Amino acid sequence: MGILAGKQVVLGVSGGIAAYKSLLLVRALEKEGAGVHVIMTEHATNLVSPRLFRELSGNPVSTTMWGDVTNHHVAHIALATLADVFMIAPATANIIGKIASGIADDMLSTTITATTAPVVIAPAMNTNMFCNPVVQRNLQTLRDLGYHVVAPDAGELACGTVGAGRLPDTDVLVFAAEQALAAGLLRGKRVLVTAGGTREAIDPVRYIGNRSSGKMGYAIAREAARQGAQVTLVSGAEALPDPAGVEVVRITSAREMEAAVAARYETTDIVIKAAAVADYRPAEVAAQKIKKEANEEAPTLQLVKNPDILYGLGQKKTHQILVGFAAETENLLENAAKKIAKKNLDMLVANNVAEPDAGFNTDTNRVTFLFRNAEPEELPFLSKDEVAERIIRSVAELAKAR
Ligand code: CTP
Repeated sequence: MGILAGKQVVLGVSGGIAAYKSLLLVRALEKEGAGVHVIMTEHATNLVSPRLFRELSGNPVSTTMWGDVTNHHVAHIALATLADVFMIAPATANIIGKIASGIADDMLSTTITATTAPVVIAPAMNTNMFCNPVVQRNLQTLRDLGYHVVAPDAGELACGTVGAGRLPDTDVLVFAAEQALAAGLLRGKRVLVTAGGTREAIDPVRYIGNRSSGKMGYAIAREAARQGAQVTLVSGAEALPDPAGVEVVRITSAREMEAAVAARYETTDIVIKAAAVADYRPAEVAAQKIKKEANEEAPTLQLVKNPDILYGLGQKKTHQILVGFAAETENLLENAAKKIAKKNLDMLVANNVAEPDAGFNTDTNRVTFLFRNAEPEELPFLSKDEVAERIIRSVAELAKAR
């Protein structure tokens, strides 16, 4: 469970074709442990029945200021106060225009005027409407006032046109709600995370790899983005979907990872190297698949050293905060302390991969944080998402102290 657990989301649904997708959003928010309270505009009720939202959310659905359908006392104020986060999805040009001009003439526009909770606006409409300068100006007004505006997806729209205006997928909307709720610990920072294992080719079909799943690095990238950072994830993991709000650069080998990281290092504030980089690669990559017949004897694989990417970054460090990982099977603290000095790191996350519930391909981890100038911090047994939260909190402290 993440940041939405136990939180109250007031979800405004205005009258766009995408209103039916908000039903899925209700489910997704509930899956995160949030309570959902829906307000529909009158136009929206012509597209989707309020009953559906009531059934899915388990809460009364407000559609008017004057009905007696609600159990809330002075309903719009009660809902405005109840909200930990307020979302409007889909947001039509009409509701966007009203909010931007301070018009409060129905239940949704009135409640939103009365809330002090962070507000997420997800515009969805015809492309020409979305591109209309007045709509764009209104969205900019809202952004300037601190509203979280989610960029719509581009694609084929219900009206037959192709372009920007589609309501983004549910996971993007849930992520936007999480971002709005988070404290913004890394707002304005550029963060580079590496994740997964590298694959070093032997021939066109074989490689040397390792058992890293990339889960830890992906959780860190997600949390950094949630805390407002601009995040690039250089990933060797193949099986994981791109996290919302993160730029993903896919690589295969250690040398590709090195190049991807080097290209961005100068403009990066924080580097977190969770990837399991192969220390060696085959000296030569066979151009064709190595065949049995050609090798009476078992072939010998000649290896050469890969660059130690993190070591290289440590040597070139100027303003960056560098965080490394250490996978150890024995003498964890001693080995980790050596690594922090040798690689010129600001922080090292050491995990004992000998434990069955920690390290590669698990959802949990047992880690110890080491710092350059502070005592080690041994964390309890946690999920990788929780470890990611702790890492980002510590990194934010380091960044603040700069
Ligand atoms: N790392 C790297 N490039 C490499 C090897 C490792 O950037 N060629 C980074 C990893 O991403 C990780 C850290 O270095 O953040 C530590 O990796 P680890 O494998 O634990 O240690 P090594 O430095 O390789 O030392 P050893 O294998 O002796 O434990």
